[in-house]
Amino acid sequence: MKTIFSGIQPSGTLTLGNYLGAMKHFVDLQHDQKCYFCIVDEHAITVPQDRLKLRDNIRSLAALYLASGIDTEKSTLFIQSEVPAHTQLGWMLQCVSYIGELERMTQFKDKSASGGKEGVTSGLLTYPPLMASDILLYQTDIVPVGEDQKQHLELTRNLAQRFNNKYNDIFTVPEVRIPKTGARIMSLQEPTKKMSKSDENQKGYISMLDDEKKIMKKVKSAVTDSEGIVKFDKENKPGVSNLLTIYSICSGIGIEELEAKYEGTGYGVFKEDVGAAVVETLKPIQDRYYELIDSVELDDILDKGAEDASFVANKMLRKAKKAMGLGLVRKKK
Ligand code: TYM
Repeated sequence: MKTIFSGIQPSGTLTLGNYLGAMKHFVDLQHDQKCYFCIVDEHAITVPQDRLKLRDNIRSLAALYLASGIDTEKSTLFIQSEVPAHTQLGWMLQCVSYIGELERMTQFKDKSASGGKEGVTSGLLTYPPLMASDILLYQTDIVPVGEDQKQHLELTRNLAQRFNNKYNDIFTVPEVRIPKTGARIMSLQEPTKKMSKSDENQKGYISMLDDEKKIMKKVKSAVTDSEGIVKFDKENKPGVSNLLTIYSICSGIGIEELEAKYEGTGYGVFKEDVGAAVVETLKPIQDRYYELIDSVELDDILDKGAEDASFVANKMLRKAKKAMGLGLVRKKK
């Protein structure tokens, strides 16, 4: 049995990109594996957050995990800040990370480019060792993520190996699992940019909680090209290729089959059908979400998740502390 770990930030309502690139795969991976799925709220505070909105987003993300099919009989679902071992090991891993390698992380470079180093928190720089801690605490074998997390996973592997060589061979070096299709769902308005929940242009992304009308409107106004040919060509037709990817995953129909189906039809009918496929995918999740969001059941699940995760994480933390020489070695009485 393999151990799976993944996390999502509660920094806004999840997008279709988060779902197709990550969450959907978590659900498929649950069978016959030991799974941990985390609401990484301590990652979210690396950028400014409104306190009340953050609280709502944490709850909302928990409900979305469950509504998408995370089964707590098989998986442990928990909030990162409720398991203090994450920040404790995170600090220890910061002490084996080099500033140079952290400054080379694309996400840090992108976010610090606009505001400069005075405008970003030090937490944004030291976020990857915390992410490594999330993963390494559970002896994780596989980390399913979208493509944008690949670099963070490479760093996690490096930190695990560095720690193992320098102190003691205690950490499992995890493998990254990136889906073949859907690993990078693009913005509907700027299809050369990743779809993101922090996009200022709301027309660029579909939220997992958008209603039918909004979804149809956003898909219909998605940027394509003037050719009128439904063909997968990422380089020259990024907008159409993105819609084909979304449609293919939502419907389960292969891209080539879709290309054949829309030969000579133009974009109108095609977009209509893409929108309908997205609605059909999200509707059952939304229905379940609204049943769960205010339920006590949700609180109980998260309490139990934090308890189970703490038990495993604390064991690993003790090993890591011992390996680094932290804490008191008691004298025999
Ligand atoms: P986050 O919250 O930005 O995104 C959550 C997951 O969604 C994937 N994703 C996408 N996939 C396809 N297309 C997109 N447009 C798209 N946008 C996002 C992300 O790749 C991710 O898998 N650092 C992580 C959270 C994290 C984590 C972890 C992940 C913290 N600790 C430990 C795995 C293991 C992040 O910010 O993801």
